[in-house]
Amino acid sequence: MSLYQQRCSELRDTPCTWLVTGVAGFIGSNLLETLLSLGQKVTGLDNFSTGFQHNLDEVKSRVTPEQWERFQFIQGDIRDLDTCRQACRGADFVLHQAALGSVPRSIEDPVNTNENNISGYLNMLVAARDEPVRRFVYAASSSTYGDHPDLPKEEDRIGNPLSPYAVTKLVNELYASVFARTYGFKTIGLRYFNIFGQRQDPDGAYAAVIPKWFASIMKQEPVYINGDGETSRDFCFIENCVQANIMAATADNDDAANQVYNVAFGQRTTLNELFELIRERVREKFPHASDVEPVYRDFRPGDVRHSLADISKARNLLGYEPEYSVRTGLDKAARWYINRFS
Ligand SMILES: NC(=O)c1ccc[n+]([C@@H]2O[C@H](COP(=O)([O-])OP(=O)(O)OC[C@H]3O[C@@H](n4cnc5c(N)ncnc54)[C@H](O)[C@@H]3O)[C@@H](O)[C@H]2O)c1
Repeated sequence: MSLYQQRCSELRDTPCTWLVTGVAGFIGSNLLETLLSLGQKVTGLDNFSTGFQHNLDEVKSRVTPEQWERFQFIQGDIRDLDTCRQACRGADFVLHQAALGSVPRSIEDPVNTNENNISGYLNMLVAARDEPVRRFVYAASSSTYGDHPDLPKEEDRIGNPLSPYAVTKLVNELYASVFARTYGFKTIGLRYFNIFGQRQDPDGAYAAVIPKWFASIMKQEPVYINGDGETSRDFCFIENCVQANIMAATADNDDAANQVYNVAFGQRTTLNELFELIRERVREKFPHASDVEPVYRDFRPGDVRHSLADISKARNLLGYEPEYSVRTGLDKAARWYINRFS
């Protein structure tokens, strides 16, 4: 039995109360599904700015009615401190996911990104500190590595942020560290590296590359690659990310707290390779996919050229052991997108 399976079985035996912010979004709804299926009690908070009721409906259809009854949803905004306090009430653990994602969105609207990602985050920290919850796990980001050239990325070597979004995620880490020193509050930051999988939104101007390409290939729309396609990322399947959150919240070794960790698979895939992997998974059901070729266009401002994580810190201190590779994750994601677009 893996350490993760062991932790899940302990949670089944002794259920806890969790708050998941951003619960109607991609990562939040996947956390919700796993926690409910482990018999946990969950409060979810979301303002539906980029999340959807249909994500919650899908989770409802995938758990038992008894499990669903342990879920309480608050439609509200983390920019309101009272709402944050209400949501934190009685929580053992907070998994804070609510934020405005996307580098290009932040370049177009830095003020709104700042209000959600910094002011909203600070409200959540204050509310969680005052409750007090046992641990506050929050979504940090690989964008914090900015212009630092080293590969693979190690947690303590970061460069300058390259976008307003990256600034907000760096500030989150700074606040967490100050709350640890000043109030003795326990946090863990998870620097996500390009998470993908079921329920990641394929629509809209700020959609991430994997859902966008699945949708474009199936709908016979052009697939754009920004740059020459040799840009690379450490794509990480959602179920690895869910595991990292559960391991971070429940890690009982003292040196695990008040740290940030890379959450990735630990392998680099170029956009050209990714395109092939997606196309070959869509082809079986949509034969026209064989004829789809990508359209290359300019590099996007704010994007880093290569990204690859060293995940040994999360392995050693949290017992994180990713179960899905990019290929096995894409197999699962493909089934979900094909089902959605068939
Ligand atoms: N998906 C990735 O690859 C990735 C990578 C790095 C970091 N992250 C971070 O992970 C978190 C979750 O990302 P995601 O991909 O699930 O995005 P998402 O947009 O699907 O989910 C974010 C959720 O937060 C909610 N939200 C936003 N602002 C809110 C507010 N003010 N009050 C209440 N709810 C609010 C949205 O409605 C949405 O449901 C974010 O903090 C994001 O910055 C994601």
